[in-house]
Amino acid sequence: MPTKSPVIIDLKFDPEEVAAALKGAFADREVINLLHPANRGRDLSGIDYAVVWKPGADLFARAPDLKVVFSGGAGVDHVLKLPGLPDVPLVRFVDGTLTTRMSEWVALQCLLHLRQHRAYAAQREKRVWRELAQPEAKEITVGIMGLGVLGQDAAAKLKTLGFRVVGWSRSRKEVEGVETFDADGLDAFLAKTDFLVGLLPLTPDTTGIYNTGLFTRLSRKGPFGAPVFINAGRGGSQVEADIVASLNDGTLHAVSLDVFEQEPLPLESPLWDMDRAFITPHAAAASDVKALVRHVERQIARVERGEPLEFLVDRTAGY
Ligand code: NDP
Ligand code: OXD
Repeated sequence: MPTKSPVIIDLKFDPEEVAAALKGAFADREVINLLHPANRGRDLSGIDYAVVWKPGADLFARAPDLKVVFSGGAGVDHVLKLPGLPDVPLVRFVDGTLTTRMSEWVALQCLLHLRQHRAYAAQREKRVWRELAQPEAKEITVGIMGLGVLGQDAAAKLKTLGFRVVGWSRSRKEVEGVETFDADGLDAFLAKTDFLVGLLPLTPDTTGIYNTGLFTRLSRKGPFGAPVFINAGRGGSQVEADIVASLNDGTLHAVSLDVFEQEPLPLESPLWDMDRAFITPHAAAASDVKALVRHVERQIARVERGEPLEFLVDRTAGY
């Protein structure tokens, strides 16, 4: 029986988590974990598969025969920019673990704003006992930009919580109970949206899309008088100077941001000090490395059975 190609692992995640996930994985082939010092100078020629997240700059020069590249995350903007990325199928990470985490984060942020959690935290600091208005979820329309795997799951969960949900994507989607819009319907979509949720990939078309011009087209008819912006897509899609200005002049009521133009968010960013900004460190939906390994195993098995790969990236579209 011919030997199966090894798989290269170049994942800049927690090394212990990677090592634990690789124990017993890929039982039918060798695993070359590049985080392991023993593999530093290893000859990687003749190898078909690599699983990457922020890989070494010389990876593709060292592994010139790759047939499939697997992204360690759902977003592939950084992978598409890697120097020397071979012109072979690129598979992104799609898995229930990641999708569930993202929907939890989105639902949490919507509820934090709906239930005025920041205001209660501020009151607590001053030992103030005062009940605030409690609008119901059904009074809020959440508009999701990006109705892909993550956007559609978040939409379903927000509906269950009672929010009205509208969605926008390049091509119009059919999602039960959700009013949907295509690229041309952006203005109509924004005019209905009280809480805007960003779940777009970063592409040339989505770079800087969340800016003052867009925020001013959001609904101001919601219970808080100004819209809320929640972004977990990519920081390159938001103009942070515009977010700060929009919070200061009341164009935006509040924001929740998981992603930033520059990560880590620089210490001097005014966002750190803004009490109407919830900030998380690009942690909305981390990849579960064990689930990632199972996903890559499944996809390699498909290729080797002659079946098509799933979750292929469209390089022209950029996601
Ligand atoms: P998908 O590819 O499944 O969905 C992307 C959606 O965005 C699609 O609906 C697509 O439209 C839409 N879209 C893309 N470009 C445009 C455009 N120019 N105009 C309008 N709509 C557009 O991606 P996922 O849902 O799996 O993930 C979305 C993003 O979330 C990732 O790319 C990544 O950047 C981010 N992410 C962030 C994480 C975090 O921890 N913060 C974790 C994981 C992902 P169409 O349906 O027509 O193709
Ligand atoms: C991803 C991410 O793209 O974690 O998966 O940002």
